[in-house]
Order: sequence, then structure tokens, then C-alpha cells
Amino acid sequence: MNYNLNKEEILLALREELSDINDIQNLQNLKSKYLGKNGLTKSLMKNLKNLDDQAKREYGKVINELKNEIEDIFENKLAELKKAELEEKEKENWVDVTIPGAIRKIGKESFITKTIREIEEIFIGMGFSIAEGPEIEDAWYNFDALNTPKWHPAREMQDTFYITTDQQKLLRTHTSPVQIRTMLKSTPPLAIISPGRVYRKDELDATHSPVFHQVEGLYVDKTVSVSHLKMYLETMAKKLFGNKVSILLRPSYFPFTEPSFEVDISCIFCGGKGCNICKNSGWIEILGAGLVHPNVLKSVNYDPEIWQGFAFGMGVERVALLKYNVPEMREFYKNDVRFIESW
Ligand code: DAH
Repeated sequence: MNYNLNKEEILLALREELSDINDIQNLQNLKSKYLGKNGLTKSLMKNLKNLDDQAKREYGKVINELKNEIEDIFENKLAELKKAELEEKEKENWVDVTIPGAIRKIGKESFITKTIREIEEIFIGMGFSIAEGPEIEDAWYNFDALNTPKWHPAREMQDTFYITTDQQKLLRTHTSPVQIRTMLKSTPPLAIISPGRVYRKDELDATHSPVFHQVEGLYVDKTVSVSHLKMYLETMAKKLFGNKVSILLRPSYFPFTEPSFEVDISCIFCGGKGCNICKNSGWIEILGAGLVHPNVLKSVNYDPEIWQGFAFGMGVERVALLKYNVPEMREFYKNDVRFIESW
């Protein structure tokens, strides 16, 4: 029989059909038309049985070559389509890195934290270290060891949040108990400041809050005088409020110091001339201070004949109000982002 097999023609036809194909599914369909069970190469094979041995060998060889070539062509086309598909996907996922990103706001330190950090920096720069104590305190540390006898008004119920009915556990009313804790675990000389939260039974108003912050200071050495105290406090005031500020020590009373002072800074709003913020006095009170009372030294087994000290306790909110010119204390606790951002 006349077995007519033009390999080149078949391949040309295939290439033509392939040029219209641009997805994998259609490629598979076309592939089965050529190589599938009922495809072209299979039917060519079937026809071989009608040929004589010589022709069978000849054409068999050509059909095999054809089949291999067709397989190669499909393989190449498949690779091509896969690559194109991948490129298409990459295009979809393409990110324009020049578009401005979503702006995420980062938090800001509260004025209290900021003020505490500033005070810490100043004293660290003068050789002080930072000490800490618990907010739930024993009456002994908060009062007794600080020479605060039972009859002292600070021990009355309206000031102190007691935790136990025997009034032995309380929320510390000041940071002064950290003086006691520090001295008990250190050997003098020492210089520390201790920032922290304190609690008192005060109604919240423009200048009071039942929870507020103090920074305590304690300095113990062999010769310590009021002039040391004054030098450190004046340096702090100038660093916090500027070089023009001066300080004023007014005699006062605290059970744990003798002599005791209330310390003012010259009014930073009017420069000391007198205005409504300093109530025309030219001075604004920011802390209490004094020389450590001998009874306090005795309570921690420091010999008052050898050791002397000064101490102070400062209201952080008060300093922050002045420094950042905030109208009232409640603003500090509202967490109003507009307020925090406005400074
Ligand atoms: N603890 C006092 C108060 O809360 C402040 C104070 C005054 C602390 C004199 C001191 C000091 O260390 O020496 O009002």
C-alpha cells in the first residue's frame, strides 16, 4: 500500500495550530489530538500493520521520530506557557515601593514619665543612683522609721489608704520609705533618688489627685550641711527650668528632717515679679527637704554621731505643670491624645 507520511507537513500544521494556543488547558487538548489514545501518532501506528516488513521498519522509524519531535514541541510550549503564567502572576502582585506607606502613629511619653526621666538624668549626672520601693508598704517604713509618731496628723485615717484593719499595711503616702529601705541595705556614704507613685485620700481637683508621683532624694555622708542640700537643689532647678531660676528655702516642719524646709523656685512665668500663677509672691513651692533627723538614722542603725544626710521629696505633677505650662493636673491622667500631642 501507499503509505503517505510527510513529517515536515505534519509538524508545520502542528506549529500553526500551536501559535493560536495561549493557555495550558487548550494545549492539553491539542496534545491529545496528536499524542493521545485516539491521536494522530497512534493512528499512524495502527496503519503500519498493513505494510510489509521493510516498509514497517522504514515508516516505524519515521513515526517514532515524529512522535519524539511532537513531544518536544509540546514540552517547550508548556514551559513557555508556564513562564508566561508566572510572569502574569508577578505582575498582579507587583508592589509599587514608591507609593507612600500608611503612616502609623507612635506613642509619646506621658508628661509624668518625661519629667521623671529628666529629673533622673540630672541627678545621675551628679553621681546619684536610682532606688525603688514597693507601693504597698508597711507602716513601719512609711511612718515609724521616719520618726513619724502615732499622733502625727499624717497617720490619721483621712490621709492614708490602709490595706489592713490593724493599719500595718498601707499604700505609701510618700516615697520617703525608700530612704529607709535603701539605708537598711547599703553602707554609707550614699546618694540616691527614688521616683514613684504615692497615694493619699484626696479628691481629684485641679491641683490634687489620690494618686500622684514624687521623687525622693537622699544623700548620706560624714559631713553634710544645708549648703550641700541647697547646691544640689539649685543645680536641679536651673537644669529643669533654666539658669535664671533661683531657689528659696523656707523653714518648715517634717518629722523626718531637722531643720526642715519648704523649697520654692522663683516664678518661671513672671521671673519673680509677681503674677496670678505665683499668687503675686514671685515664688512657687516645689518640694520639701531638710537634714535627715538623727532618729531616722538610728532607726536604720546608722550612728548619727558619724553620719549626716540631707533628703528631699518633690511632687512630679507640680514640676510637670510648671515645666509644660499645663493648666491642671487632671489633664495628666485623661490620656487624651490631643492633649499629649499638643505639646
Ligand atoms: N515626704 C514629704 C511629703 O510627702 C516630702 C519630704 C519632705 C520628703 C522632706 C523628704 C524631706 O525627704 O526631707 O510631703
